[in-house]
Amino acid sequence: MHNFLIYDCFPDIVPSPREIAQSIRTITRKHNQWFKDSIPLIASENVMSPAAREAMNSDLHNRYAEGLPGKRYYQGNIFVDEIEVICEDLAKEVFGCRFVDVRPTSGTVSNLAVLMAIAKPRDKMTTVALSDGGHISHAKIGATGLRGVKTFNYPFDEKSMNIDVAGARKLIREVKPRVALFGQSVYLFPTPLDELRDVIEEVGCTTWYDAAHVLGLIAAKRFQDPLRQGIDVVSGSTHKTLPGPQHGMILSDSGKDGLESSLRRGVFPGVTSNHHLQSVAALAITLAETKEFGEAYADQTIRNAKALAQSLHTRGMDVLCEHLGFTESHTLVLDVEEFQGGAKVAKALEKANIIANKNLLPWDSNPVRPSGIRLGSQEVTRIGMKEGDMDVIAELIHQVVAKGADPDVIRNEVIEFKKGFTKVHYCYFEGEEAYDYPSFDGDL
Ligand SMILES: Cc1ncc(COP(=O)(O)O)c(C=O)c1O
Repeated sequence: MHNFLIYDCFPDIVPSPREIAQSIRTITRKHNQWFKDSIPLIASENVMSPAAREAMNSDLHNRYAEGLPGKRYYQGNIFVDEIEVICEDLAKEVFGCRFVDVRPTSGTVSNLAVLMAIAKPRDKMTTVALSDGGHISHAKIGATGLRGVKTFNYPFDEKSMNIDVAGARKLIREVKPRVALFGQSVYLFPTPLDELRDVIEEVGCTTWYDAAHVLGLIAAKRFQDPLRQGIDVVSGSTHKTLPGPQHGMILSDSGKDGLESSLRRGVFPGVTSNHHLQSVAALAITLAETKEFGEAYADQTIRNAKALAQSLHTRGMDVLCEHLGFTESHTLVLDVEEFQGGAKVAKALEKANIIANKNLLPWDSNPVRPSGIRLGSQEVTRIGMKEGDMDVIAELIHQVVAKGADPDVIRNEVIEFKKGFTKVHYCYFEGEEAYDYPSFDGDL
């Protein structure tokens, strides 16, 4: 797969800046073509709609707009302000809440802003452990540690791949955290928020839900609705099941005293100066498309995840949570320890142009040797695949992982199969190419 550049072979030749720039153009095009020829199954990725991509490529990208609409530190923001207000209004409507901040530049930046707003150094926070599917920004080694917040992990039920309700109730009562954080990167089933609500109220902690993975499913009302279940703050990325730009957002409907202004300050000047204006425009378009196409898209995404899980299970692969229907989201998880673990399997799949990632499972004792892989159906759904196509993917995966088929042979099958799925769906300009990008002719 790797095509080395000329100066890899002739280390004495020093490339000119022009040659370096040209090689970057060439490599980028190779990347685009590779993804066009591949089956994308990373659960945190997606492709944007043509209209959102147009916004990302606009002059908005070149500009600065610190602060809030009408109260900027720079001139030149007349249209920027219009776009940001429309984006916030749309988000309020889609998620049914009174407060939205669309300025965080990623999910992790959203989380940093929330941490600044609702927690202080040495505060206690309950979270899902990394090995149970929690995100690195919820952990000591990530954003949470940077804020100096102490974490306590909920007991986890490996069988249902979810927080253990009795254990979590006990933990929250004992720890009395300042913040109870929920939400995962391996997110198969809704968090049992209703079952924890009375304990949370008893302790009086602030509740925070990281919806990075499931924001699009929540927008479509196809997953739990954390704001209606008493959660104070929701954060998320806008480029996973919500198929928008790589960006973040924060939502709240709690109306708690001072919370909204703390969140605003957490974003700016807390963890951003300029935010990414092209992404705000692309996000607004994505939210409009979600209003129109989001339910159909979320329904098919979940149907595809279940179908892929069932097809892999039928072929004898160890897909977790069969007794619960495998998943209620876009994600499914496989234990591939019998095939030498997640890292080996993910690499073998990559050679065959099937892109997935290794993943820790709750029972893994070695954090650098995950025994699982995680698959997501959101991007293959976005490019038009249905349940029958999931069976084709399951067969290709099974051939590589369990049958030891030659990845070169499977790669050719993948490329042939993928030719039927290169266009974006569930959006305006439906049917435009998903992996082709405008470019200038000729070399530099
Ligand atoms: C639960 C969760 N929170 C936050 C993030 C971080 O999002 P971003 O990559 O946009 O910073 C992720 C990323 O996958 C995630 O899974």
